[in-house]
Amino acid sequence: MERRVIGFLVVLLQLVSCVGALSGNASNSGSLYAAFLLSNGIGRTPPMGWNSWNHFHCRIDEWTIKKTADALVSTGLAALGYKYVNIDDCWGEANRDSRGNLVARKSTFPSGIKALADYVHSKGMKLGIYSDAGYRTCSKTMPGSLGHEEQDARTFASWGVDYLKYDNCYHDGSSPQNRFARMSYALRKAGRPILYSICEWGEQNPATWAGTLGNSWRTGGDIQDKWESMTSAADQNDAWGRFAGPGRWNDPDMLEVGNGGMSIEEYRSHFSIWAIMKAPLLIGCDIKSASRAMLRILGNKEVIDVNQDPLGIQGRKIRSRADQEVWAVPLSGRRIGIVLWNRSWSRAPFTVSWRELGLAPSAPMLVRDLWLHKFVSTRQRYRLTAIVSPHACKMYVVSAQTQSLLETNGSQWSMPAFLP
Ligand code: GLA
Repeated sequence: MERRVIGFLVVLLQLVSCVGALSGNASNSGSLYAAFLLSNGIGRTPPMGWNSWNHFHCRIDEWTIKKTADALVSTGLAALGYKYVNIDDCWGEANRDSRGNLVARKSTFPSGIKALADYVHSKGMKLGIYSDAGYRTCSKTMPGSLGHEEQDARTFASWGVDYLKYDNCYHDGSSPQNRFARMSYALRKAGRPILYSICEWGEQNPATWAGTLGNSWRTGGDIQDKWESMTSAADQNDAWGRFAGPGRWNDPDMLEVGNGGMSIEEYRSHFSIWAIMKAPLLIGCDIKSASRAMLRILGNKEVIDVNQDPLGIQGRKIRSRADQEVWAVPLSGRRIGIVLWNRSWSRAPFTVSWRELGLAPSAPMLVRDLWLHKFVSTRQRYRLTAIVSPHACKMYVVSAQTQSLLETNGSQWSMPAFLP
């Protein structure tokens, strides 16, 4: 398709989304979004899976991808929802073939991507791949898709690919709105639902335009396996909270949990904040050799459930004082998710009143600790108090207290039956 036509479509989409936003009717603007360019109906909750980059960088091959798929199944992570097995940069030959097609690198992926997709599908999971809205990918080792969007989208669809991460290196200087729209259109034409992950690093405020084109967009540069990098990615992502929703997510980048650069408490904070922010949960460590402690973090079903809540509202920082932060999110069933995050170097007492959460100040609430897997006995029933260790967090779900909920069996969580 002509660049001019795509440019026009993008402007049209932006107008449409503005009208939706101005009308103040979220569901109406949501349906308008869905009716336009991408309209692939997937990613209604944040995508979950694994990606090769954070741990392996360019050192990938088909054995690693297959063994990772096996490990996702054997650890139980696949059953918890981690279904995308995503190959990042460096999977292709340096040049296209004589017909202009991308080809898998013979030395590392001798069976080809289709065979890998078949393998991953046979395990009940989905395969993701990577390309770039420029002439080379960021590693420079293989071609990008700029100018080949439709051909490459057809190739990915014919291989059975389910997810495309689309990067932003070595382009022609034209606007990302235009370049990322071209692939969006090509994917839609390719005839296979492919989750489209836009990796523009937040340079031109993609939250304001990428929701009409893709299922997720990066809100910042590359994460590193360090506390400072992780906290700053969280803050950058928080700024765009109101643009997220079912089918379109802010992406603060992939998880570093398990890569060794942070403490257990820091990784627990990383995972909790990504979950409450409705970030894609893409594991970035070597699952084959991950420790039990790391698997316990990544496999915390109660935290995952907050991330996958059907309302799809991004949690936000609602208070920040002296590096002590309160994050909160409305959840289905009129529940509220809360993270008390101590970003300081000293132990800190936290108090949150129901009023601060927008609840009736005297309502008796039931509080579930998602890391201790226990209901909290709140002596002071109209507020939540906790002491939080340095760089650690506490994560809770608060819901209205009723007889039906109190009757639940042991510490097993269930939705309050009385709420719509
Ligand atoms: C960029 C992306 C990363 C990764 C690398 C691969 O830096 O932001 O997530 O995909 O490219 O080269």
